[in-house]
Amino acid sequence: MDKRRILFVCLGNICRSPLGEGILRTMATKRGLESRVEADSAGTGGWHHGEAPDRRSIDVGRENGVDISGLRARKIKPADFSDFDMIFAMDRSNLRDLVKIAPHDSHADIHLFMDFVSGQKRDVPDPYYGDRTDFEAVYQMLSSGCEKLLATLFRTA
Ligand code: 4NP
Repeated sequence: MDKRRILFVCLGNICRSPLGEGILRTMATKRGLESRVEADSAGTGGWHHGEAPDRRSIDVGRENGVDISGLRARKIKPADFSDFDMIFAMDRSNLRDLVKIAPHDSHADIHLFMDFVSGQKRDVPDPYYGDRTDFEAVYQMLSSGCEKLLATLFRTA
C-alpha cells in the first residue's frame, strides 16, 4: 500500500518541526500505521544543522511519550519537494519561504499545518524565545493536529 511521505518544516528545525515529526511517527506506530507513514522534518534556515532538538522540545516530548532526542536538524533541500507528498509549514512565514524556494517541478502539496488540520489559518507559534508553557502549547497543537491528520489520511479516529 502507498506510503504517505510527510515533511514538517519550521525555521530552525530544533523546536517545532522535530516535535511534529516525532509525534506523527509515534502516533502512527501506536495505530499500526507505521508502514503507511513516513515522517521527517527540516528547517528553512540552516543555522542549527546537525544539532539535536532544543532541550525544551525533547523534554515536552519525553513527558508525553515521544522521544525526539536522536533527531538532528537539517535545512530543507530541493529534492524534498519531490521526495515528500505533503510539506507542512508551522507558520505563515515558513509557508511563504517554502513557496518561494519550491522548484518549478515540485509535486509536494504544501500547506500551513493548522489550516490543513483545522481549517484555521493559524500559526504554530515559534516558542524559541518563550518558556515551558509555550513549548507545551506547541505540543498540544501538534498532537491534536496529528490526530486529525491521521484521521483525514486514513479515516481512522
Ligand atoms: P523552530 O524554532 O523554528 O521551531 O526550530 C526556532 C529555533 C531557532 C531559532 C528560531 C526559531 N533561531 O533564531 O535560532
